[in-house]
Order: sequence, then structure tokens, then C-alpha cells
Amino acid sequence: MFDDPQSPAWTPLLEAAWRARANAHAPYSHFQVGAALLTASGDILGGCNVENAAYPVTLCAERGALSAAVAGGLRPGGLVAAVVVTDVAQLTPPCGACRQALAEFAGPLPVLLANRTTRALHHLEDLLPHSFTGRNFL
Ligand code: THU
Repeated sequence: MFDDPQSPAWTPLLEAAWRARANAHAPYSHFQVGAALLTASGDILGGCNVENAAYPVTLCAERGALSAAVAGGLRPGGLVAAVVVTDVAQLTPPCGACRQALAEFAGPLPVLLANRTTRALHHLEDLLPHSFTGRNFL
């Protein structure tokens, strides 16, 4: 299902990500990003980047979606699939901070990158190998 980037299973996630992206607050970079997460309980949560005049305060789309998912009851291990959308030719992978934030709640996690015409499927364990998690010290 989520092992095929063209699978229709991605459609509701892509729709949620594009919808969220339309609300991105990106007056500084003009680079609007949308994200969506599917949780084990079947919820789909969207997120967009929220920039700030104090640049480092900026929140990425992925972590916005993750916040919404946790507020909705997501627990560690409960992420099923993730999508990141932008409207540029080169697909946008999650930044390092977002990879780490997703790893906190992910088991094996397919991550679909998409623009209007192209999709590429990755897996979080390939984007963030040897990740540091609570298992390293708990
Ligand atoms: N951004 C995201 O929202 N997600 C990513 O995966 C990469 C970068 C945002 C942060 C900032 O608002 C803009 O893109 C440019 O870095």
C-alpha cells in the first residue's frame, strides 16, 4: 500500500498536505511547505511551515503536523505514513530536526515527497540512519 509511491492510499495524505500548504506563513523565504501524517488510529493531520520575523523561531511543516498528531493522541510507534509537498521542481526532504522529531514517534515510516507532478518514496530509517532515541538511554 504505502510501499508504492503511486498507490491511491497516498491520496488523502497528499490532499491534506496541499490543503495545509495553502495556509503556510512563509513571508521571508516564500517557500511554502505542506506535510501530512497518518496515525495508527487512522487520523490524518496536516501541517504547514510557520515562519517568524525572528527567523530561528520558524516551525517546519512536518513538526507542525507532528504537534497536531500528538495533541490528537499520537503515541510513540503510532506513525504510519508521512507526506511532504512543495511546488518546486526538486522534491523537499524533511530537514534534520524534523527527521529527529519524527523518529521519536515512528517505527518503520514511509515518507513520500511530492510536487505537482513527481513523487519519491523514502523511509525514515534511510533518511536518519542510526538515529538517537530514548532507547539509547532509557
Ligand atoms: N521547511 C519546512 O517546512 N520543511 C522542510 O522539510 C524544509 C524546510 C521550511 C522552513 C522554512 O519556513 C522554509 O521551509 C525555508 O527553509
